[in-house]
Amino acid sequence: MKALAIGAILSLSGAMVGATHLSDSRLSKVYDVMNAISTHSWENGTKSEAILEWTYPTLSVFTSTGNPFPDHPPEPAGEQHLRRGEGGSSLLQDDAAGDPASLGIAVLLANLTTGDAQVNGVGYGEAATQELNYLLYDVPRYPPTSTNGTNGTSNATLNAATTGAISHRAQYAQLWSDSVFMVPPFLAAYGVWSANQTLLQTAYTQCSLYRQYLRTSSGLWMHIVGASTGLDYGLWATGNAWAAYGMLRVWASIYHSPYRGDMGSQMADLASWSGEIVQAAEQYITSDGLFHNYLNDTSTFEDSAGAALMAATGLRLSTLNITNNYVPAALTLLSGVSDKVNSTGYLTQVVNPNSFGAQGTESPKARAS
Ligand SMILES: *[C@@H]1O[C@H](CO)[C@@H](O)[C@H](O)[C@H]1NC(C)=O
Ligand SMILES: *[C@@H]1O[C@H](CO)[C@@H](O)[C@H](O)[C@H]1NC(C)=O
Ligand SMILES: *[C@@H]1O[C@H](CO)[C@@H](O)[C@H](O)[C@H]1NC(C)=O
Ligand SMILES: *[C@@H]1O[C@H](CO)[C@@H](O)[C@H](O)[C@H]1NC(C)=O
Ligand SMILES: *[C@@H]1O[C@H](CO)[C@@H](O)[C@H](O)[C@H]1NC(C)=O
Ligand SMILES: *[C@@H]1O[C@H](CO)[C@@H](O)[C@H](O)[C@H]1NC(C)=O
Ligand SMILES: *[C@@H]1O[C@H](CO)[C@@H](O)[C@H](O)[C@H]1NC(C)=O
Ligand SMILES: *[C@@H]1O[C@H](CO)[C@@H](O)[C@H](O)[C@H]1NC(C)=O
Ligand SMILES: *[C@@H]1O[C@H](CO)[C@@H](O)[C@H](O)[C@H]1NC(C)=O
Repeated sequence: MKALAIGAILSLSGAMVGATHLSDSRLSKVYDVMNAISTHSWENGTKSEAILEWTYPTLSVFTSTGNPFPDHPPEPAGEQHLRRGEGGSSLLQDDAAGDPASLGIAVLLANLTTGDAQVNGVGYGEAATQELNYLLYDVPRYPPTSTNGTNGTSNATLNAATTGAISHRAQYAQLWSDSVFMVPPFLAAYGVWSANQTLLQTAYTQCSLYRQYLRTSSGLWMHIVGASTGLDYGLWATGNAWAAYGMLRVWASIYHSPYRGDMGSQMADLASWSGEIVQAAEQYITSDGLFHNYLNDTSTFEDSAGAALMAATGLRLSTLNITNNYVPAALTLLSGVSDKVNSTGYLTQVVNPNSFGAQGTESPKARAS
């Protein structure tokens, strides 16, 4: 979470230069701290996204060019893909299926810029393709399709399927709002890189399915549903922000793809679903310009990581010319979050990266936002 909050701040400053009252030197400290403290796969993935948005904006999906792969693929890339049953593999060993995918875009770019360099005997391109196939063909889907999996406890092999929402967990079918930031943006970027509209559609469908299963009537999303252990039906602030921002990244990938004309209704949905979360969250902004860790539960601490990423979402909705409706809320949140950045560049008062109910002292994720 710490890295998330950091990245959130940096992408905020990318979204609206000058909107934060943090000085450039303070922001570079924030950046350094993000680099120093990111450890988990999703933190490194979020960090990579923050670096793209802040340091190399022309490689980010949010710029006016928006397509970091302008001249690719050199030839249709579809044939090299594995089929179901041939097996993919995750970029990293992780109990989470979804988190390592957050590094996928950086790996695709590394492949492009290094000419498929090898690391430990595996080329970047192969690693990205393996990750794609792992997500598409090996990770359990929700709802589980195996009769053994009616309560969601079947393992990946039993559940391998090509319909349903791609689980955030590797061993059983479970959906986490976090996953919307980790997985669909990678599928979409791979689709743009390989000129494959099906993958952009899959990215959209995954957002749609996650919304179907996680959204409550309030418009806000629950955190974790599915297999029977460790569920969290609460309206986790950071999870809502992950989902809202992740859907905008998919929107932007489609917008900058050759398929924009074909996929207008999908883009309209993504824009509306992202805005819906920000709109529903607005009423929960505290007098400090933050959110409670669980949006509607004032007994939980006020978290700056989720607030940072939600602010970034509101500003991106504006800079993408979707709507200016959430700029005032975003600026309130930005101000609240900026107040929590201390002089060493740490975003303080953030959710603990290893325990989403607990407050931590620092969060790489927050800095990445
Ligand atoms: C994240 O990156 C750091 C170095 O920046 C590295 O030490 C760490 O192992 C990475 N984490 C994972 C899960 O790969
Ligand atoms: C698009 O990607 C999917 C999944 O990897 C693959 O099955 C399909 O063949 C690709 N289509 C084209 C036209 O390359
Ligand atoms: C990786 O780079 C190589 C060399 O440029 C290219 O042939 C290959 O298609 C790329 N693969 C991916 C998945 O980016
Ligand atoms: C269910 O589990 C049993 C015992 O492990 C196995 O033999 C069977 O093939 C499974 N059925 C399905 C549909 O996966
Ligand atoms: C549900 O999962 C539990 C824990 O793995 C298992 O013991 C139980 O048999 C499962 N129940 C059904 C109906 O599949
Ligand atoms: C899936 O579950 C079966 C039966 O419990 C087990 O034999 C198998 O090793 C598991 N496979 C994986 C990939 O976890
Ligand atoms: C917050 O919203 C959730 C989901 O709608 C609901 O179950 C819970 O009771 C609410 N909590 C409070 C404190 O109102
Ligand atoms: C939004 O509008 C501005 C001003 O017209 C333009 O420069 C920018 O490219 C637009 N952004 C997108 C994503 O279309
Ligand atoms: C800023 O916060 C970090 C993390 O809590 C802490 O280690 C550091 O000492 C703080 N800096 C100052 C100047 O208080």
